[in-house]
Amino acid sequence: MLGGIVARELNNRRSWTMRITLILFAVVIAAGSALGETIALPPVREDIEMSVIDAMGMRRTIRDYTDREVSDEDLATILWSAYGVNRENGKKTVPVAIGVDYMRIYVARSDGAWKYIPETHELERVTDSDIRGEIGMQGFVSSANLVLVLVFDSSAYSLVFDIALSKESQLGHGHATSGCTAQNVHLTCAAMDYGTCMIAMIKEGKIRKHLALEEKEIPLYIMPIGGVEEGSYD
Ligand SMILES: Cc1cc2nc3c(=O)[nH]c(=O)nc-3n(C[C@H](O)[C@H](O)[C@H](O)COP(=O)(O)O)c2cc1C
Repeated sequence: MLGGIVARELNNRRSWTMRITLILFAVVIAAGSALGETIALPPVREDIEMSVIDAMGMRRTIRDYTDREVSDEDLATILWSAYGVNRENGKKTVPVAIGVDYMRIYVARSDGAWKYIPETHELERVTDSDIRGEIGMQGFVSSANLVLVLVFDSSAYSLVFDIALSKESQLGHGHATSGCTAQNVHLTCAAMDYGTCMIAMIKEGKIRKHLALEEKEIPLYIMPIGGVEEGSYD
């Protein structure tokens, strides 16, 4: 009799253990499958009428954002201006030293952080977490609808043989191209009525951790992007 009770108790415990294990397994599968998930971006907008000269006239740093969401079309256009493919040969909207493909652009927003894949014009998820509040040293960064993260991947140089460049020179190239990217993003934002700011005061360690960067991938700048108050561009 006692043996029967013990056996039943053990069975109950086993079935609960089994249920909990299955639930944990399902949670892990669900979380795991989200990482690496890709989403196709819409085509780049071709209906923007503002001239480059007018956009340059408007360009300024804006640090106050409204809660207007950046639409998928607008994000696609901003990312393409930042580091998109603009020619058959795969080269980009910004110049790179010796043709080396060393820039990586990430997008941090409320639904997680994503890596921009220029070749396919897609986003690839790198985390489910909203990291906007953790990656900049200034409070206004977290108020932006999304934040671009500009990363220099020095490992891209190892693919180019026969060129001996110091680490400083390589990093200088990353900063130079980041400047071009930042200006493109500024002009595109001005033309679509969003505000942005190029920011060097970043939390490198947090960015590295959240984006799972390799040692040779160096975060250089972030650019929060959000809607603007009326008159911000006057
Ligand atoms: C390389 C670089 C780094 C910058 N870093 C920051 C920063 O960390 N935080 C910030 O609020 N603005 C930053 N800025 C924006 C400048 O403060 C801003 O461009 C400058 O005040 C001129 O204003 P304007 O962009 O409206 O012409 C940076 C700009 C550049 C070019």
